Amino acid sequence: MNLKKLAGYEAAELVKDGQVVGLGTGSTTHYFIQRLAEKIKEEEMEILGIPTSYQSQFLARKLGITMTTLDEHNVELAVDGADEVDPQLNLIKGGGAAHTMEKIVDSSAEKFIVIVDDSKLVDELGTFPVPVEVIPQAFRVVAERLEAMDGKPELRIAERKDGPVITDNGNFVLDIQFQKISDPAALENELNTIPGVVENGLFTGIVHEVIVGTQQGLEILKL
Ligand code: 5RP
Repeated sequence: MNLKKLAGYEAAELVKDGQVVGLGTGSTTHYFIQRLAEKIKEEEMEILGIPTSYQSQFLARKLGITMTTLDEHNVELAVDGADEVDPQLNLIKGGGAAHTMEKIVDSSAEKFIVIVDDSKLVDELGTFPVPVEVIPQAFRVVAERLEAMDGKPELRIAERKDGPVITDNGNFVLDIQFQKISDPAALENELNTIPGVVENGLFTGIVHEVIVGTQQGLEILKL
């Protein structure tokens, strides 16, 4: 069973006609966008999508979803994937380096639903390194500040390009391994106070619901 597809397809069932929907990024969200596009056609729904990356924008455009921007509309429902989910529904995101726009769209939504397979559920965040988007000119000084916070920063290197990953916003990404993340909300705020940091991949206190695909079927997590 494809657990990402299970979760993504379920989320598409929650979209109501007339809604403005935040379109997350990643392989799980891919299934959500795919099923949403099918439903829009099948049920003649009027949906406006707000993409969180070039990836989701290109996919939505290819599938014929009408898009808008945050300048024009508020997000009613955002659906996005995650790299880790803890029992308090805090997240680490940014495996696809899209976390800045994802956080802007997801946190502005009236309702934010996360879709994951059960491999993403953890007791404590931090096995997955925390992605931090950084202005290129600041990356060395930001890395030093992160080391002083007991983090091990690593510049994310591109796979089919020489040199670093460049985000949709033209920046670098440092992936930070921390010994322990005991207070995710405090760390999220602290990271964003370092000059040169654009946004980090800790998402705390904004999730309304998590749809988890498991071998036994769907599980819904709420606080
Ligand atoms: C991209 C993200 C993704 O949502 C996260 O990496 C999960 O991806 P996937 O659904 O492919 O496992 O935060 O920046």
